[in-house]
Amino acid sequence: MFLRSMTTDPSEIETLTASYLSRIAQADDAALEAVRIEALGKQGRVSLLMKQLGAMSPAERQDMGPRLNGLRDSLQEAILARRADLASAALEAKLLAERLDASLPAVPTRIGSIHPIMRVMEELSEIFADMGFALAEGPDIESDFHNFTALNFPPKHPAREMHDTFFLKPDAAGERKVLRTHTSPVQVRTMLSQKPPIRIIAMGRTFRCDSDQTHTPMFHQIEGLVIDEASNMADLKGTLMALMRAYFEVDDVDVRFRPHHFPFTEPSAEMDVRCDRSNGQIRIGQGQDWLEILGCGMVHPNVLRNCGIDPDVHQGYAFGIGVDRLAMLKYGMSDLRDMFAADTRWLKHYGFSPFLVPNLAAGL
Ligand code: DAH
Repeated sequence: MFLRSMTTDPSEIETLTASYLSRIAQADDAALEAVRIEALGKQGRVSLLMKQLGAMSPAERQDMGPRLNGLRDSLQEAILARRADLASAALEAKLLAERLDASLPAVPTRIGSIHPIMRVMEELSEIFADMGFALAEGPDIESDFHNFTALNFPPKHPAREMHDTFFLKPDAAGERKVLRTHTSPVQVRTMLSQKPPIRIIAMGRTFRCDSDQTHTPMFHQIEGLVIDEASNMADLKGTLMALMRAYFEVDDVDVRFRPHHFPFTEPSAEMDVRCDRSNGQIRIGQGQDWLEILGCGMVHPNVLRNCGIDPDVHQGYAFGIGVDRLAMLKYGMSDLRDMFAADTRWLKHYGFSPFLVPNLAAGL
């Protein structure tokens, strides 16, 4: 009865349309779905009204049919449009919340620091790369052959003991490996695997059973090796002086070479740099004192032979430097042991920002 009187009144339909449309316009996602079910669901108000069409007289149906169809279509359209609006508003809000201003300066958050040893190794590779040296590598655990024998250490020679070697337990074949006592075995590995001309540096950990203010059981070395047909002692000196100037960032460094002995070089030398030790500080470059800084020499013919290189055709030079020592001299650390104590206060003080990449053009 109520339905019949309502459906025959077109103004009722208009009121219904207006009320649904205004609810739709303000609905959020949940309310929108509620309105849809309430109006257009199987038991919805509009659906029920449409079911009445069948019971109407043809004249009524002709009038009411289009009106009800219009009502249903406009509600459906309004719901779809509202849903699209809600979705794009949600996307807008999400984008706004996730907005990143790429032009803002970065907030300096401390993300750890580069250890001075690492830093110095980066500086050294930069300097040597500039001089045309490639980077070579070798393992920390070495065979006796690579660490000693091929380098012309005579068997049972006290030099092997002199290195305070850490020996590993013999393996199944009875071979006793060592923790490499220097980076010189990388010379052997390089010469065994490459043909001259060779121009490499090798850096890394080395191990000796020793501990005091200037010695730690683990320390770092950088090794250099140049093999060709002509390189001589003068080239060695020039290379090392260029290294000192670049590394200590001074115009000139006075150096002297003292005769020395290493089994793998002949002649051998130690290089000292001029320094000043007044005021409890070491300043490199000028002064009245000398500081021993590295070992070097011309590669011994026996070493070349051991590595399959003919000493009558090829020759060259080698050098070995304590990296930790270089770091202490440049950055003013006084006790080597602190470097490996993993004390974060020490690292905070002496460490470098990961963003400061050493560069010869901009300064190390
Ligand atoms: N390997 C030597 C050491 O650890 C350092 C050294 C000296 C390396 C002379 C060399 C060299 O390449 O020519 O004491």
